[in-house]
Amino acid sequence: MPDRAALVTGASSGIGLAIAHVLGEEGHGLTVAARRPEKLAGAVEELRGKGFEVEEVAANLTSEEEIQRVVAAHRERFGRLDVLVNSAGVGIGAGVADIQTKRADMQLDLNLRAIILFYRECADLLRAAGAEHRNALVVNLASIAGKGGAGWLSVYAATKAGVIGWTQSMNKELNGEGIKNVALAPGFVDTPMTEFIKEQVKAEDMITTSDVGEAVRYLLKTSPACVVPEMVFQRPGETI
Ligand SMILES: NC(=O)c1ccc[n+]([C@@H]2O[C@H](COP(=O)([O-])OP(=O)(O)OC[C@H]3O[C@@H](n4cnc5c(N)ncnc54)[C@H](OP(=O)(O)O)[C@@H]3O)[C@@H](O)[C@H]2O)c1
Repeated sequence: MPDRAALVTGASSGIGLAIAHVLGEEGHGLTVAARRPEKLAGAVEELRGKGFEVEEVAANLTSEEEIQRVVAAHRERFGRLDVLVNSAGVGIGAGVADIQTKRADMQLDLNLRAIILFYRECADLLRAAGAEHRNALVVNLASIAGKGGAGWLSVYAATKAGVIGWTQSMNKELNGEGIKNVALAPGFVDTPMTEFIKEQVKAEDMITTSDVGEAVRYLLKTSPACVVPEMVFQRPGETI
């Protein structure tokens, strides 16, 4: 059994998968969760191929019961939680007059509500890790859109601003218990999520998933005294 354990949402793809690799390399047992089982299975094969211990849970994280099922599976397998990464997210563009309630709800539920519920369900495990080594870590994926807004992606931007506010609150509430909370706020990262823009912004001009993964490796190594509440990743010339 590994000494440390992590739970990563959105781990079948992009940023979540890159972070799962880093956490595995740093000695964590992994619970990985994402929506589509077949895509998640491919990621799990990759991670297990590197010798990591992996629990796989396909789940739709807009559902409270599914979130509880993911945390229960993690608890059962590893019995501890040192790092929680909330990377599952979705962005759906629409002008303000065309916003569909169902799509707004989906973004709010996955990008923000799921993070709140994961914290609630994991609070005891995170507190136990914080009491043990004072260096539990929660990484929440926000976005540069959450810092400066994004026209036609306004619901997404609002959820990400919410993630930043939530993370600030969690630092105020939990930091004294040895739990560090960080919101990552990148500009365009080369993942399936940014396919829609790759005719205008070339993939090679985007931030890489490994840039984000290495940021998490750094966060793991910072001392409990070093709080990094937010990390903004900008491409050259990109403004907030
Ligand atoms: N890429 C960027 O430019 C960028 C910039 C700033 C912030 N971010 C944020 O970074 C995070 C990761 O994005 P990414 O670029 O890595 O995107 P991605 O490659 O599209 O990955 C998204 C992940 O979320 C999962 N997911 C989507 N809907 C889900 C649901 N209802 N239940 C459970 N899992 C679900 C996906 O699984 P399925 O594929 O099975 O649905 C996938 O594993 C997101 O929160 C995103 O907002 C991305």
